[in-house]
Amino acid sequence: GVSWKLADHPKLPKGKVVAMVVLDGWGEAHDNQYNCISVAETPTMDSLKNGAPDRWRLVRAHGTAVGLPTEDDMGNSEVGHNALGAGRIFAQGAKLCDLALETGKIFDGEGFNYIKGSFESGTLHLIGLLSDGGVHSRIDQVLLLVKGASERGAKRIRVHALTDGRDVLDGSSVAFVETLQNYLAELRDQGIDAQIASGGGRMYVTMDRYENDWDVVKRGWDAQVLGEAPYKFKSALEAVKTLRAEPKANDQYLPPFVIVDESGKAVGPIVDGDAVVTFNFRADRMVMAAKAFEYEDFDKFDRVRVPKIRYAGMLQYDGELKLPSHYLVSPPEIDRTSGEYLTHNGVRTFACSETVKFGHVTFFWNGNRSGYFDSEMEEYVEVPSDSGITFNVQPKMKALEIAEKARDAILGGEFHQVRVNLPNSDMVGHTGDIAATVVACKAADEAVKMILDAIEQVGGIYVVTADHGNAEDMVKRNKKGEPALDKDGNIQILTSHTLEPVPIAIGGPGLLPGVRYRKDVPNGGLANVAATVMNLHGFVAPDDYETTLIEVVDN
Ligand code: 3PG
Ligand code: CO
Repeated sequence: GVSWKLADHPKLPKGKVVAMVVLDGWGEAHDNQYNCISVAETPTMDSLKNGAPDRWRLVRAHGTAVGLPTEDDMGNSEVGHNALGAGRIFAQGAKLCDLALETGKIFDGEGFNYIKGSFESGTLHLIGLLSDGGVHSRIDQVLLLVKGASERGAKRIRVHALTDGRDVLDGSSVAFVETLQNYLAELRDQGIDAQIASGGGRMYVTMDRYENDWDVVKRGWDAQVLGEAPYKFKSALEAVKTLRAEPKANDQYLPPFVIVDESGKAVGPIVDGDAVVTFNFRADRMVMAAKAFEYEDFDKFDRVRVPKIRYAGMLQYDGELKLPSHYLVSPPEIDRTSGEYLTHNGVRTFACSETVKFGHVTFFWNGNRSGYFDSEMEEYVEVPSDSGITFNVQPKMKALEIAEKARDAILGGEFHQVRVNLPNSDMVGHTGDIAATVVACKAADEAVKMILDAIEQVGGIYVVTADHGNAEDMVKRNKKGEPALDKDGNIQILTSHTLEPVPIAIGGPGLLPGVRYRKDVPNGGLANVAATVMNLHGFVAPDDYETTLIEVVDN
């Protein structure tokens, strides 16, 4: 068994209230007009940066520092919160799928074997996000999966493609659909009946998260399973080109469409005897669809027709719920997270965000685990998000409400750790609306102030950091770092995350004067934060945790 008892820190006391603030999508980059954080009025974050120099630093939040395949992989909230909470670096879904595909092991596994049972007489359906963003999925993995399945007996293949524009440039959906469509045409030349069957924008079709809006999942179900959608096209390429031509259309929000044959019939509804794979490796935006595919009892929307299928996820999306029960690649086993240790060591924890990021400070923080470790020791509060809007319309989101909950939890005296995620800079950054993102950053800064004020009142400690970059750079750049122009000479707005490091500031009246950042962890990343926070609670982290960022000098 695991020994949960943490050693006492030789110098740092227990029992202080520690506020752990994660600014979602708040990276550090040089001042310029596309840096919404530097453009915005952010006096609180500025004062942390310009305050005690040995209590503010940057940490790595992308690439291998968070378990992603390469240094070209931008950070994201899943891997960022996993690293923050787990204190160690685990090879993440993207990497594990790469390995399983490279070695071919994916095709020998239980999950693939299971879906293979449908290849003889049924259709193989692949559903997921079609891009090279590497956050939820990757198109090269999809092509390898299609190839491998066709070589192993799949005779009829249908892909249900969700367009991205959020982890990649808006407008790139056309090229991704073209790549897939061309590849499937090659397969048809080899006698395999393969084509794209339906599609729609990721934020409007299928990929909702944390049960914010089941209508999103229903739209996907209707198109993918029932073969019904408001738009019908002869090809997916024609679909995305036509739908994108509508005023204000963008990849993230394309309406659902189905591909129909000459007689107007959908080419790929899901029927009894078929196999379905959701090819996203990341869980948060696939769990809801997985429930619709897997659960017999299901009341979130009327499924109308529930086909008897063999269903597998690319990964298992929820280990606790064992959802889905079949999967092609085993997810990272993120065990012994800091949250679990702290509950065993008497640290009472409060965690809060609004719906769209609630699972980030709970599920992802806890190593992709739902629920409490110990409901006596923890309280998780979800502030309902606005739904059915894009957040540039309400860039302040629920920052104030989250900060008020955190303040009350800090002043209430019941908790030792008060952890929040402030979503503004990320969620509004993803809309690509620069003016709104500036407002979002200011709102997040004001929320930080409220939390810091409460910490001041109770003599506590704060840690303010972020999970990855986003709002600090809103333009696509060339190799020289200058804004890259498209063929018409226009800048291209960057809706995605970035490769930038993120700040981490520590302070508060409860922090011993001698606490400062060590100089010997220059490459520190998000995974170093957990040991740091354990220290601030008065404990030494387990040996296999990434090292702490702080030391205590006598002064
Ligand atoms: C999303 O799912 O919204 C984006 O793909 C990634 O954003 P997140 O990693 O900040 O959640
Ligand atoms: Co994001």
